[in-house]
Amino acid sequence: MHNGKILIVDDDPFVREFLSEILSDKGRYEVDVAVDGLEGLEKIGRQDYDVVFTDLCMPRLNGLEFLREVKRLEPVLPVVVITGFSTIENAVNAMREGASDFIEKPFQVDKVISLAERLANQKRLLGGLTSKRRYRLSLETLNAQLFKTLQEISTLHTVSTELDNLYDNSDIYRRVVEMALKLLPVREAFFGIVDGNRLKIKSSIGVPKFRDEIEFRGSYIERVVKSGTHVVVKPGDFNPVDSSRVTSPILCIPININGETIGILSLSNKPDGSSFTDDEIHLALTFVQKVALRLENNALYETVYSNLINTLKSLVAIIEARDPYTKQHSERVTLYSLEIAEMIGLSNEEKEIIKFGGYLHDIGKIGVRDTILLKPGKLTPEEMAEVRLHPLIGDRIVQPVRFLEKERELILYHHERIDGRGYPYGLKGDEIPFVVRILSVADAYDAMTSSRAYRPAKPHEVAIEEIKYGVNTQFDKEVVKAFLNTKTGKGRKQKKKLSVD
Ligand SMILES: [Fe+2]
Repeated sequence: MHNGKILIVDDDPFVREFLSEILSDKGRYEVDVAVDGLEGLEKIGRQDYDVVFTDLCMPRLNGLEFLREVKRLEPVLPVVVITGFSTIENAVNAMREGASDFIEKPFQVDKVISLAERLANQKRLLGGLTSKRRYRLSLETLNAQLFKTLQEISTLHTVSTELDNLYDNSDIYRRVVEMALKLLPVREAFFGIVDGNRLKIKSSIGVPKFRDEIEFRGSYIERVVKSGTHVVVKPGDFNPVDSSRVTSPILCIPININGETIGILSLSNKPDGSSFTDDEIHLALTFVQKVALRLENNALYETVYSNLINTLKSLVAIIEARDPYTKQHSERVTLYSLEIAEMIGLSNEEKEIIKFGGYLHDIGKIGVRDTILLKPGKLTPEEMAEVRLHPLIGDRIVQPVRFLEKERELILYHHERIDGRGYPYGLKGDEIPFVVRILSVADAYDAMTSSRAYRPAKPHEVAIEEIKYGVNTQFDKEVVKAFLNTKTGKGRKQKKKLSVD
């Protein structure tokens, strides 16, 4: 004997098959399928169903139109909307149109089954009442559920958006407990990273008598770490946090990345002292899944980023190795630029751009032939034209890297001049970004004060005079003024070493 009849409406055969399999497993439900809203309506017209699962994007009659029609024909028939997380706003709209709940892809089998069970029960309850009372009750139930689910979705959505903007793991560690307390009715939460048999606590709220590290062998934390699944700890259990007995239920959830438990989130002390409901557990698990995903993305990003930085750094090292005269030119130019930036009071963000962009500014020289780059004499016009391509070549090298967008400007425009007589574009004055105007002063100073294949180094005083002479033609007035006040501008030696990482 099955528990009821379910209709799945989806144009994707895989979704239809997957949900049918879950719901009809062990004879739980009798399952029927429809490929779109129109077929769904035809079936609902002919037979009684207890729950309907529907996709939103379908040909002929789409999910929202289908939902409206079902609600008009059978107001008490619960409809569950199938959604992907990116389309969660559609799910919210569907809830407003009368959907009972929604399920997210990829599906969590437990959630699908418990949802079908809850809604089929609700349908049975309402189905047995007189139509007027039934209608009123269904509205009340739906409203209460709608309100609760909408609240949950919107909090989860806010939390998710915030997580997406946290690129630093330490920020995630700090915010994760604050968010958990917002999301669930608990007064205590802590987050820790697994290190062998110990848990390194990264953040906590409301937990008294706390240590930075917990030895968790033989405790519920070990069970969670070993099994990779959550545990609801009952009062009376041993608590490794303060070596006492648990006084109120604890929900302990693993943070799993690539099948490995790297940490846990512990939630406890509900104000009413009750245990955790299925809905609360589901919400907490969804939240932790998002946290794990964010941490995993950060780790991937860091690997990709550091590989790329190393590649770019070795390109610069290759250029400088080819030309002994420009050895450490990029490093010095960056240091001088940072001195100017400091003097002017640029933000940390701008300094970071200078730090890496300055180091890379001549990266395009990798594309200039040695015979030209190392030529001791004067360059021919053709050779000069080739050298002048290096900002464009450099730009092309870093162009595919989305997060180096601002740094690209330093590479592309560092030979532009205030009077528009620079290259490659002949930009004028404010058309040249401010950080670039800083770099061109630093670049010119270092070029003049170091020896080149075609001439010896100029003394500091001469270089300064030439820079002053270039104000408002080659250089920005404010930048030159700031440079003259820096240590380097005053002729004092730089002891600092730059580390680009
Ligand atoms: Fe250059």
